[in-house]
This record gives sequence, structure tokens and C-alpha cells, in this order.
Amino acid sequence: MDIKIFDDYQTLSIATALQIVDTVSRHSNAVLCLAAGNTPALTYDFVVRLSRERDVDFSQVTFIGLDEWVGVAPGNSGSCACFLNQHIFVPLSISAKRIFLFDALAPDLEFECVKMNDTIARVNGIDLMLVGVGMNGHIGFNEPGATSSSYAHVVLLDETTQSVGQKYFDTDMKIGTGITLGVAQLLESKKVMVIASGTSKASIIKRALDGAISGDVPASYVRMHANSACMLDKAAASLIS
Ligand code: F6R
Repeated sequence: MDIKIFDDYQTLSIATALQIVDTVSRHSNAVLCLAAGNTPALTYDFVVRLSRERDVDFSQVTFIGLDEWVGVAPGNSGSCACFLNQHIFVPLSISAKRIFLFDALAPDLEFECVKMNDTIARVNGIDLMLVGVGMNGHIGFNEPGATSSSYAHVVLLDETTQSVGQKYFDTDMKIGTGITLGVAQLLESKKVMVIASGTSKASIIKRALDGAISGDVPASYVRMHANSACMLDKAAASLIS
């Protein structure tokens, strides 16, 4: 795993955005899977800006959803769908037919998982995944205890995820369950980037990079991927050896 450390959130975000834009400029029908959350928000703003400055066409890119809060509607501003719409899909005018997100209101969530697994197979896999790291080491909603062999699945969210996740919502929200791609899908994608910023992430980043590769810290599994990068600002990297 390539560990890249940048001075601050801004330079981290520009560098991460460049990787995404470069992927699409080399491979116009790339398949991308991008996390929601606070950390990559500025990255996506730079993706939009750089794609315009460099005239990189995103119209043939396919977007695969990483995860969603079960029971939360896509119109809710705290949903992953709403975040991606606002930061990526609308500014880049991505056609709905190229966007494949989990329907977290579907009556049959297991079928949603089957559909997502089939979609990923049909598009010949994911070219680039960008994932954040939760305070408990989760990636997507692969929570502590996750195995490395899972595909899309429904998961009971751990207490940290439920409480930290409130930050995305305007009002108290019941977010006990998630639906997520699995670690196997991360390991099978052609490239994975993990992004983390700020001192609040420093200790979990240390455990993910310096500790054992284990389900205790699911982000550590990314080290098993031969083509992976960990994008950090100095604050997030401050405890790693
Ligand atoms: C969101 C997701 C989560 C977040 C993680 C970090 O789609 O998959 O795993 O990436 O919880 O969130 P932030 O960036 O808000 O700290």
C-alpha cells in the first residue's frame, strides 16, 4: 500500500481529486465507487472543478453506490445518495442510467444486494474505489468484526457508527442498519484509495496501518490490496510510524 501524506486537507483533496480525474481521462467509461461523508466532500468539489478545467468527460462513467443508511430516503439530506447527488452527480450532469445506488427503502434488501452484486459483475468490476474511514475503523459499512470475504450485505451498525452518523442529519435519526458493499468487492476492485483527514482520525489510522490486518479494524484490509493508496493529511498521519 502506498501511503501519501499531504500538508493539509486542501492539498490532500486536490491530490485525491486528480487521481479520480486522471482515471476518467485515461478510461472514459471507468466504473467508480465513491464514499459519501465529510472527508471526501472537498475532493469532489475539486473533481468537478478539474474536470471542467481539463475538459474531462464524465458522461460515460458508471457510478456504483458504496453504502446507505437503511430506511433513509434518497431525498433526506443525510443520505449517501443525497450527498453524492449534490457533490458529484448534479454538478457533473451524470445521467441517471449510469448511477447504481442501493435503494435503502426497498422492501427486499437482500434482493438489493443481489442486484448490486450483479450490476458490478455486469460492468466488469469497479475500476476505482474511494473510501473513508469511520472512527471505529469501518470502511463503507463494514463494521468491526467484518470478514474480508463479504459482498453486498445488510449490516447492523455498531454504536459508534450510529452516534457519529447523526452528524449528517438535521434531526435525530434512527440509523441502526446499513446496506453496504463488502470487503471482497473492495479487494476485487482495480484500485482502492482510502482517504482520512484530521487529528480525530489519527489513532484509528495508526491501528489500520501499523496494527494487524484484521476485522477488528476493517480499514486494515485495504493493505491486502496490491494497488491501494492511503491518502492522509499530516494530522491524520500524525501517529503512524
Ligand atoms: C460513507 C461511508 C463511511 C464514511 C466514514 C467516514 O459512504 O462509507 O464509511 O466514509 O464513516 O466518514 P467521514 O468522512 O464523514 O468522517
